[in-house]
Amino acid sequence: MTLIRALSSLARPFLGQLDPEFAHTLTIKALGAVGNAMPPEPDDPRLHLSAFGLEFPNPVGLAAGFDKNAQVTQAMLGFGFGFVEAGTVTPRPQDGNPKPRIFRLKEDRAVINRLGFNNQGHAAARKRLTALQDLPGIRGINIGANKDSADRVADYVHGLKELGPLASYVTVNISSPNTPGLRGLQNKAELETLLSALVETRSNLPRQMPLLLKIAPDLDEQARADIAEVVLAKGIDGVIVSNTTIARPTTLKSSQRNEPGGLSGAPLLSPSTEVLRDMRRLTQGRITLIGVGGISSGADAYAKFQAGATLVQLYTALTFEGPALVARIKRDLLQLLERDGLNSITQVVGQSAS
Ligand SMILES: Cc1cc2nc3c(=O)[nH]c(=O)nc-3n(C[C@H](O)[C@H](O)[C@H](O)COP(=O)(O)O)c2cc1C
Repeated sequence: MTLIRALSSLARPFLGQLDPEFAHTLTIKALGAVGNAMPPEPDDPRLHLSAFGLEFPNPVGLAAGFDKNAQVTQAMLGFGFGFVEAGTVTPRPQDGNPKPRIFRLKEDRAVINRLGFNNQGHAAARKRLTALQDLPGIRGINIGANKDSADRVADYVHGLKELGPLASYVTVNISSPNTPGLRGLQNKAELETLLSALVETRSNLPRQMPLLLKIAPDLDEQARADIAEVVLAKGIDGVIVSNTTIARPTTLKSSQRNEPGGLSGAPLLSPSTEVLRDMRRLTQGRITLIGVGGISSGADAYAKFQAGATLVQLYTALTFEGPALVARIKRDLLQLLERDGLNSITQVVGQSAS
C-alpha cells in the first residue's frame, strides 16, 4: 500500500489538470487494477468505537459517490478509512445526466456535481459485494431510485433486499439534488411510507442490518423536525447529515459557481455542521449521527463530533488532497484528544451540541 500511496501523490497534480470525471474514471481503473489491498495498519485504540452493533477501527469514512459501483471498496479501506460507503446504486443501470456534469471549484476547495445517479445497477454491485464477503472491513451500501421509476418506494425496498444482506449497513439516499423529485421523499408523509416499507422489509430478512437515512442540508426548521420525528418513530438506526447543497454561498469565487447541481467541499462545512447540531437537538441524542460535508482536516472532523456526530465521512477533500489526507486527519484527531485531555473520540461526541 505504501507504493500505491507514493504513486497516488505523484499522480495527483496530473489528475488535477484533467476533466474531473475523467480523472475519477482513471482513478477507479487504477485502484481496480491494484485489487484488494492489504488491511491498513491498526488504528490507535483511542479512535476505536462501536456504533449500531458494528466495531469501527476509526470514525473516518469514505462518503457515497466515490465508489458508486463497489469496485474499489477494499482499496479505499486500505487507505485507512474506518468504513467505506459504496453507491448510490439504483435497481437498473442508468447513464445519469449529460456531460460535463462534475465541476472543480478550485479556488473554493469545492465541487459541483449533477451526475444524476450514474451507476451499473443492483446486479453488478451485488456480484462485487458477494466477492468481498470473506474480507474484513465495514462496507456500507447506499441505495437510490431510478430516475424513470414508476414506484420509488419499490426501488428502495428492492435495494434493501438485494444488497442489504451483503453490506454492514444500508443508507437510504433521498437527498440527491440531481434526480428530479427525489428530495420530495423527505416530506413527512412520504418519508413515513418509505421508512415503514423498509423497516417491514428488513424485519423479514435474516439479519437486521443498520438502516441509515441520508438527508439534505437544505431543510427548513419544520422539515428537520418532521424528519427527526419520523426516524425516531420508525426506529431508524442513524442519520447521515448531509448530502450536497443546492445553495450557493455568496463567498464562492470560482467562475463555475453557478453551474446547476449539488455543491460539496469547504463551503458546505459550516451549513452541514449546523444541520447536524440541530438534528442532534431534535433527536435528543437518541440516534447515531454521521457528519459529512466539507471535512478536510482533523479540526473539521472534530467540530462534527462536537456537534453530535459519532462518525464522519468525506469525499471532496480527497479529490484535492489525495489519500494521505486520511492518515493526516486521524493523526490530527489524536493530537486534539491529547490537547483536550481525552482518551477516546467517543468522549467528544455532542460536547458543543446546543
Ligand atoms: C462527485 C460526487 C458524487 C456524489 N455522489 C453521491 C451519491 O451517489 N450518493 C450520495 O449519497 N452522495 C453522493 N455525493 C455526496 C457525498 O457523499 C457527500 O455527502 C457530500 O459530497 C458532502 O461531503 P464532502 O464535502 O466531503 O464531499 C457525491 C458527491 C460528489 C462530490
